[in-house]
Amino acid sequence: MEIKKAEFTLSAPTVTMCPKDDKPEYAFIGRSNVGKSSLINMLTNNRKLAKTSATPGKTLLINHFIINNEWYLVDLPGYGYARRSKKEVQKLEQMISGYILQREQLMNVFLLVDVRLEPQKIDLDFIEWLGTSNIPFAIVFTKADKLSVSKVSQNVEAYKKVLLETWEELPPIFITSSEKKAGRSEVLDYIEQINRNLKG
Ligand code: GTP
Ligand code: MG
Repeated sequence: MEIKKAEFTLSAPTVTMCPKDDKPEYAFIGRSNVGKSSLINMLTNNRKLAKTSATPGKTLLINHFIINNEWYLVDLPGYGYARRSKKEVQKLEQMISGYILQREQLMNVFLLVDVRLEPQKIDLDFIEWLGTSNIPFAIVFTKADKLSVSKVSQNVEAYKKVLLETWEELPPIFITSSEKKAGRSEVLDYIEQINRNLKG
């Protein structure tokens, strides 16, 4: 799929303040600093579209970006950042879960996981929650440029094994690097296929 146009729409603190529009949307979630905003920039070929930062906790609102005037990419705040107050954690959790559970036009959640790390409980818990909430999701491994190709596939295989301890089937899995623009067409083709099915 070709991205002809990508524009920031708005930032919302709650799902009720998200764009009043029923176009399909695709959201990115995962631990703070995993590379959600960077992935959106990589997919849209625009380094400045979503704000990124080397320090975790950069994205704090629900950010909508309209693509080709037809569908949205949605950047969410990360979870699991240790240096946050209880109140702040609660507020963000509500923002994220409210959006994911209530946004009817949300077609798929991309759950981002740093490919360098062993499976983290917080991510496995989030995957469990998505599954039991019946939210369609795919797993996107990020920062593949930081490891050798063989180490990447070793880690991905190990992750699948852990998932198969709980799940009968694996979700779609993508391996990406925003730095090297890897996995771009795979993720965009997946979105395009869902968009096409919606049109019937
Ligand atoms: P929050 O908004 O804080 O939750 O973080 P985020 O998940 O949006 O992460 P962000 O995109 O801001 O990236 C965090 C850091 O990781 C930045 O320093 C990025 O440059 C870096 N980063 C993101 N993706 C990649 C990647 O594919 N490769 C490498 N090497 N660095 C990456
Ligand atoms: Mg971000």
